[in-house]
Amino acid sequence: MAEELHINQQVSKEEKYQELIPQLSALVSGENDPIANLANLMAALKQTFNFWWVGVYVAKNDELVLGPFQGPIACTRIKKGKGVCGTAWQEAKTIIVPDVDQFPGHIACSSLSKSEIVIPIFNKNKEVIMVIDVDSEKLADFDQIDEIYLNKIANLISDFV
Ligand code: SME
Repeated sequence: MAEELHINQQVSKEEKYQELIPQLSALVSGENDPIANLANLMAALKQTFNFWWVGVYVAKNDELVLGPFQGPIACTRIKKGKGVCGTAWQEAKTIIVPDVDQFPGHIACSSLSKSEIVIPIFNKNKEVIMVIDVDSEKLADFDQIDEIYLNKIANLISDFV
């Protein structure tokens, strides 16, 4: 496909996700390199929603290691069970944090980050192999709409990594 996204910026967040997801499938369908695909998916999310920070962390031994992302530089390694990302990995579930200052052990990569959502990505054996982390400079910026559609994107990633 042409390397161009078509997203109407005047519609709701849910409609933007609905426009985006088929384009993401098309974007990754012609390429089998996981880093190239992850890099483009994170760029597409940034371009569509202008998230403050969006990226993946990859599970390696007992740590998450920074993968492709868009936004300011970030911490490179997070131990299992630490921060929002390490907790989402340990509990193998999506975590929405409306106010990061209220989350015990939150890892502040940027003091401007105010709310966060982390989505686990599973392999065929239902093990967490990565997480998607999205940060906002606004409080309570993520809800069930983000959870539903970012989980669809997590499933798309499971198919090529
Ligand atoms: N805040 C995350 C760390 C990663 S950065 O925000 C990019 C956490 O608590 O896991």
